Amino acid sequence: MSSEVRFITKNFDKYDPMSIDAYLAIGGFSALKKAVLMDGEDIASLIGAAKVKGRGGAAYDMGRKWSQARAVPGDHKLTICNADEGEPCTFKDREIIRRDPFNLIEAMIIGGFTVRAQYGYIYLREEYRHLRDRLRNAIRQAEEHGFLGNDILGIPGFNFHIHLYSGAGAYVCGEGTALIRSIEGKAGRPRMKPPFIKVSGAFALPTCVNNVESFAIVPHLLLDSDGVYTSHGSGESIGTKLVSVGGNVRRPGVYEIPFGTPVREIIYDLAQGIPGGHALRLIQFGGASGKITDARILDVPYTYDDLKAAGVTVGSGAILVIDDRTSVLDFLRMTQAFFSHESCGQCTPCREGNLHQKLLLEKLARGEATREDVALMKKIGEIMERSSLCGLGETAQAALLSAMQIFPDTFAVGGTY
Ligand SMILES: Cc1cc2nc3c(=O)[nH]c(=O)nc-3n(C[C@H](O)[C@H](O)[C@H](O)COP(=O)(O)O)c2cc1C
Ligand code: SF4
Repeated sequence: MSSEVRFITKNFDKYDPMSIDAYLAIGGFSALKKAVLMDGEDIASLIGAAKVKGRGGAAYDMGRKWSQARAVPGDHKLTICNADEGEPCTFKDREIIRRDPFNLIEAMIIGGFTVRAQYGYIYLREEYRHLRDRLRNAIRQAEEHGFLGNDILGIPGFNFHIHLYSGAGAYVCGEGTALIRSIEGKAGRPRMKPPFIKVSGAFALPTCVNNVESFAIVPHLLLDSDGVYTSHGSGESIGTKLVSVGGNVRRPGVYEIPFGTPVREIIYDLAQGIPGGHALRLIQFGGASGKITDARILDVPYTYDDLKAAGVTVGSGAILVIDDRTSVLDFLRMTQAFFSHESCGQCTPCREGNLHQKLLLEKLARGEATREDVALMKKIGEIMERSSLCGLGETAQAALLSAMQIFPDTFAVGGTY
């Protein structure tokens, strides 16, 4: 019935996440031992050949990122594991940290080896403070066993140290440059690029930032001599993906699916559909910054290309299901309130745009909006997309603009919109 698979989640519930001995007993750190016998460029190529795309939302080619980071000159380089996971309805990274923390540490060490970095930071969102001890424990035990520190595995000069850093709870701090400023002890606000992070990131050192799930794939991929990962999916969507399904479903949760699984199967088989006999109203893909659609998406295979052709994106891997108890307008107002609150206020299109969209949506809800107001909403949304300084402002209007296409009746004031 269900097409759930175990590749990235292979170790879940297989060992005590507080014990490195338990992790070693299931083969832990054998990927690292294999990696250090390889050339770093070959590790990056292996990831590139498997077409792994960054799982933080932007879907950047991960093999390419590691190869580029490796090529940047510098005696001191950093890697950062982005565990901010602030995108609403996204909770897959939390499960990786909770159920397989040692795999993440192993992956970061392999990352350090590949890109020639000596320090790694984990940027953990404040709301995951209950996972701090788990990560601290994994780091400490890895140090005690010689997997972290200097001359790792007895290899002279292979030094790698991991620091755990907790954010203060801002959505924008998941954005790479804001996250880096936060690590540096500054206010977590994005900055213009260039300089690019890979050349001048944290403390002005070359830095490579990856999402938790992106890292977590690596050790499994290195040991995948049978090509299990690449046997899933097709085209640009190879392998498996963790999706966080939430909202009005019977069984919300994190599911590992092969790319290509129909959306219907994810919502109605894995998450067991909508409870209480309610009808599907809308689905949002990729978190609050993602676009929305309706039941027309159900038979579309979950791949980067198919979702894009259907007007939505994979993004953070979130799938939020909303039933007929919530109106499209109320949903948009809630989303807009989130972005108005989370905008860092640094640039005008995002700061003012989010506020005015919020006011216009409220006007629409009171039945007072005119056709000009609706046209203005569309214009503001498009301006924000094109002229905001960072991805927050660029994507804050994705839900609203897509709703205008999918649910035109919501915006029908004084006749058709
Ligand atoms: C407003 C905003 C919030 C973001 N939040 C996260 C986040 O919580 N976690 C994450 O991994 N990436 C987040 N990203 C994406 C990161 O900027 C970055 O692309 C990612 O961490 C790179 O890792 P990846 O290539 O492995 O996906 C966010 C981006 C923006 C614009
Ligand atoms: S787009 Fe929004 S969050 Fe990003 S820098 Fe501008 S004001 Fe801040």
